[in-house]
Amino acid sequence: MNSWTLRRRLVVAIVGLLAAASLIIGLVSVLALRGFLMDRLDSQLASATGRSQNAANGYDGGAPAPAPDDGLGPSSLRFGVQGPLTVTGIVFTDVVRAGIVTQSGDIALLDEAQSAELLNVPVDGEPVTITLGDLGQYRAAGQQIGPETTLVTALPLGEVTETVSRLIAVIAIVAIIVLVVAAVVGHAVVRLALRPLDRVAATATAVSALPLDRGEVALAERVAPQDADPSTEVGRVGSAINRMLDHVASALAARQASENRVRRFVADASHELRTPLTSIRGYAELTRRFNQELPPEVVHSIGRVESEAVRMSTLVEDLLLLARLDEGRDLELAETDLTRVVIDAVSDARAAGADHEWSLDLPEEPVLVIGDANRLHQVLANLLSNARMHTPAGTHVITTLVVDDSDAVVTVADNGPGIPEALQSHLFERFSRGDGSRSRASGSTGLGLAIVKAVVEGHGGSVAVKSAPGNTVFTVRLPLATDAS
Ligand SMILES: Nc1ncnc2c1ncn2[C@@H]1O[C@H](COP(=O)(O)OP(=O)(O)OP(=O)(O)O)[C@@H](O)[C@H]1O
Ligand SMILES: [Mg+2]
Repeated sequence: MNSWTLRRRLVVAIVGLLAAASLIIGLVSVLALRGFLMDRLDSQLASATGRSQNAANGYDGGAPAPAPDDGLGPSSLRFGVQGPLTVTGIVFTDVVRAGIVTQSGDIALLDEAQSAELLNVPVDGEPVTITLGDLGQYRAAGQQIGPETTLVTALPLGEVTETVSRLIAVIAIVAIIVLVVAAVVGHAVVRLALRPLDRVAATATAVSALPLDRGEVALAERVAPQDADPSTEVGRVGSAINRMLDHVASALAARQASENRVRRFVADASHELRTPLTSIRGYAELTRRFNQELPPEVVHSIGRVESEAVRMSTLVEDLLLLARLDEGRDLELAETDLTRVVIDAVSDARAAGADHEWSLDLPEEPVLVIGDANRLHQVLANLLSNARMHTPAGTHVITTLVVDDSDAVVTVADNGPGIPEALQSHLFERFSRGDGSRSRASGSTGLGLAIVKAVVEGHGGSVAVKSAPGNTVFTVRLPLATDAS
């Protein structure tokens, strides 16, 4: 019942109420009609009894009790003028003679069992209901007409029963029809009445499907004005939802504005840092040129300044790139041959990592995507440099490019030690890196894979990783260039 829809509950309630009302009306009508018909039959019985009594006056005076076979003919039971089916009986102590007026006006004798029923009729003149075998139910009244003689008159109940049954049948049929019609019409009316609620629910569902957790959200969905009229119940829900959506929209806009400010700030800061970093590197290099005249400690220090400045430049470049990608800028899309990009990246990696084994598996045909060749090169370079930096010498790195459906799929697989389980869930987040001493020593920052993800998603693609000791696979999917794109 709790899981029933409001619609079903309303329809069931309507039909249930109507059924109860029909039942009560039917019951009262039937009882009233039956009472009325019984009263009328009882008064007819009273007059029939009166007629019989007048005619039976001659019986009185101690007439001998007739035995059933005393030769008294049926006509001896004709008391007054009675209608067809009227039963009249004379009871002498416990001997009964009874007859029924036939349709043709004759008198037919009742059989013994039927006659015996008349013995149960009280003699006080109060009508009672008796059953006379095949003849059915009768209303009977007894009258003392002699010291030991009782006159019983009975009228058939058949007509009353038939009329009442007829009424019951009519009421039942009408009630069923009314209930069916009420169910159908009720269903339609309730559905019509609940339609605004459906529309409000549809709006709420549409909003719930929107990705509100990131990026610029245009929260344009609203409940239509006709469903947001606060003078109706549904309208109150609708207008409350609209107010809530207004609040959510302004909260999202505020969040977006503050996010944009932070991005701008990071982008500006990174940009501003480039120039002084270049100067530091320049001066460090300049100083190194005179290294004959400097003590070795100073030369060492200057060398450290230079290498840290280089590292910081890389970091600043990465931050700037991420900030720009976040803003949706910095991708110069053009038709790009991904095969070329992969070949170049692997050659660079081979040159940089001579103590690793590099292999490459390419399709025959060039694979074209719409993308920014420099950024895609960076994606490959980051994945390959990870495979070089975070694995021991001698590790085998296999790069493959295949076409799968409408995607170009690049995989970079290595048989190194794998990525720690704990790191995998947030591998692509910014500044997340393994804390092996190797990463620290090599100056890794943990931005490489964040850039991979940002660039790939900026191209409408996706990146995934599967890693176990001895088998680490990064898979990059990019949509192929089609005529439409
Ligand atoms: N092929 C790999 N094998 C083992 N560990 C890996 C591999 N690729 C990535 N990792 C782990 O994932 C971490 C994050 O990689 P990511 O490229 O984002 O940062 P990083 O390489 O540490 O720094 P950056 O690339 O910014 O210089 C790495 O620090 C390393 O622990
Ligand atoms: Mg890296």
